[in-house]
Amino acid sequence: MRGYAWGTAWRRSWAGVAACAAMVAVLMVGCSTPGPREVPQLGLEAFPPVANDKAPGASQQAWETAKAMGRGVNFGNMFDAPDEGLWGIKAEPEFIDAVVAAGFRTVRLPVRWSNHCGNAPPFTLEPAFADRVEQVVDALLARGLYVVMDMHHDRPFEGAKPDPGERAADPQRVDERFLRLWVQVAERFKGKSDKLLFEVYNEPHGRLHAERWNDLLARAMGVIRASNPDRVVVISGAAWGGVWALHQLRVPNDPHLLVSFHHYEPMDFTHQGADWHPEYAVGVTCCDAGQAKKVAQAFEVAKAWSDKRRYPLFLGEFGSHDKAEMASRETYTRLMREHAERHGMPWAVWEFGSSFGVYDRQAKAYHQGLMKALMPTWGQSESLTAKSP
Ligand code: BGC
Repeated sequence: MRGYAWGTAWRRSWAGVAACAAMVAVLMVGCSTPGPREVPQLGLEAFPPVANDKAPGASQQAWETAKAMGRGVNFGNMFDAPDEGLWGIKAEPEFIDAVVAAGFRTVRLPVRWSNHCGNAPPFTLEPAFADRVEQVVDALLARGLYVVMDMHHDRPFEGAKPDPGERAADPQRVDERFLRLWVQVAERFKGKSDKLLFEVYNEPHGRLHAERWNDLLARAMGVIRASNPDRVVVISGAAWGGVWALHQLRVPNDPHLLVSFHHYEPMDFTHQGADWHPEYAVGVTCCDAGQAKKVAQAFEVAKAWSDKRRYPLFLGEFGSHDKAEMASRETYTRLMREHAERHGMPWAVWEFGSSFGVYDRQAKAYHQGLMKALMPTWGQSESLTAKSP
């Protein structure tokens, strides 16, 4: 079961985006004095922000990385659960074999570091957990995959109640904790292949409104660059990392960046039956002309932003819940993949083997139709036994 707090019902929906934009505006006006939910933060002085007034555009390294990442998959619900296994899936070696056999080039690896560290500064990471994540990162890199390791689901940092199984945190120290976690993670992984990318935070939202997020992102970049001067880093904007708030993102003055966005429109289709979105009832199909238009629009907005700012994009998440009918999931998945690829964007489908999954863990086989939608040559040469839905 998944625990989502106050942002849940608005999540990524168009009404929600509009309401969030209005809320962001209100928060920005009142930013000098903390509002009712704003808790003053301690311990930030040690982490000065890098400048974000003149982002130079991406380096050749960043553009080449984006191109090489191609098609990818999220290892979701594994390390982003409060503990590995709590959401019913662990990172198994056979999954890595399956990813390689399918021809994916990238794995995005969400990690909830914040539930595996000390309770007070310096928020020391639990060695056993860090070792376990490192073991999986090494195993993925050893197979030649790109790995986008992102920091995911620190609910107190988002201003939400902890998930079941997640520890409470001192609300005055959540920003410091976020930065001190990056100090340790960046240091631990600094010697790895340049196929390892760090992603600063998944879907900033809640108390991470645009202004606060821009500041924290700039501080986190300072932290990461102290130990990883050239590693390609993935960043995203506030409002769930969607495209509609991209224009509010202040890109740090740094060339080695990819800019991620997540795209789950139409939400009532992709999230039908998801227990963390009870407002979306099952039975919605995809994709009629109106739905297809919604899907296309977000790509247009993202592409226009990328052309203007000269940073490559990464579609870090899209996908649909298994409560949706399979034929519609296939149509939707193909449509998303085609848009991303037509715009030259690498992508990572959400996710490998849970409720949005492309892989059926019981059958130890991929869902054939979803894989055909993702990989145009699927079924012609791969060695895995594909499964009919
Ligand atoms: C969240 C997942 C969720 C998915 C689809 C992701 O960003 O981290 O927990 O399942 O979006 O809603």
